[in-house]
Amino acid sequence: MRTYAVTGASGNFGHRVVEELLARGVRGTEIVAVARTPAKAADLAGRGVLVRPGDYSRSETLVPALTGVDRVLLISGSELGQRVPQHTAVIQAAKNAGAERILYTSILRADTSSNPIAGEHRGTETALRTSAVPFTLLRNSWYTENYTDRLAMYLQRGEIVGAAGAGKVSGAPRADFAVAAAVAMLADGEGNLVYELGGPAFSLEELAATIREVTGTTVVYRDLPTSDYVTALQHAGLDEATAEFVVAIDASVAAGDLETDSDDLTKLLGRPPTPLADAVRAAYA
Ligand SMILES: NC(=O)c1ccc[n+]([C@@H]2O[C@H](COP(=O)([O-])OP(=O)(O)OC[C@H]3O[C@@H](n4cnc5c(N)ncnc54)[C@H](OP(=O)(O)O)[C@@H]3O)[C@@H](O)[C@H]2O)c1
Repeated sequence: MRTYAVTGASGNFGHRVVEELLARGVRGTEIVAVARTPAKAADLAGRGVLVRPGDYSRSETLVPALTGVDRVLLISGSELGQRVPQHTAVIQAAKNAGAERILYTSILRADTSSNPIAGEHRGTETALRTSAVPFTLLRNSWYTENYTDRLAMYLQRGEIVGAAGAGKVSGAPRADFAVAAAVAMLADGEGNLVYELGGPAFSLEELAATIREVTGTTVVYRDLPTSDYVTALQHAGLDEATAEFVVAIDASVAAGDLETDSDDLTKLLGRPPTPLADAVRAAYA
């Protein structure tokens, strides 16, 4: 019997991974859902999953959380700037627990990406290499939810504003990436594995066209020079550092960092990733 731990199990992604493991026949007693806020994973406990507390910033919680676990899915945390030491603590605890494999949710082409959050993913990937525990990198492109969660705003304003130019995003719904993570957890494979994961690529102009098709509205994409976009975001209430961060993300889209022609996601899912129009339709409904 093999035991699977999913960290960040109180979050949307982790919860979905645990559900997928259960759906694929893994027994609840073989799954450890590690959560900083265990109460948020109470429904999983109700389904027989072992829910254990684990905070990436409190290493004393991590060894007990991962005791007896064979495979660990480390889901990247949400506290920007703190994630390399946090993730390193999880990797160390997994190693101490004798885990045979660590899977990590990284970013597309983390080694070369200019995305402002890629540095922390690179740092974590280095910590994995240093640990000498076999690893699987799930280098995810953007969740389509990064855009579809703003659908109401796009519709209200009649436009998507950005500075991504003609850059494309190989997006897929969070659930597709989560299912792929569950499949990768269950798969047998030797050595270190790297998956570049993305769905069908779309530019923000194509996103706007898809929204028009699905909603029957006239939403357009308005591309701004980066300095104008920083100013627009500041006028909308963002502080300068946050505005520059948002613009740097669009600059990385413009540079092609979130686009891939890899079919790794299709292979793990065993089907094509969810089309953008379906994701927009689901958000619109
Ligand atoms: N590829 C993309 O487009 C994209 C988009 C958004 C996020 N992400 C990344 O993917 C991760 C999972 O996404 P998601 O949708 O599940 O995000 P989410 O719903 O916001 O969940 C984030 C999870 O991280 C946990 N977490 C944060 N800091 C922690 C800490 N110090 N110790 C333990 N757990 C901690 C949270 O625990 P609590 O429940 O206790 O807060 C929560 O379970 C995010 O954390 C982020 O790194 C990627």
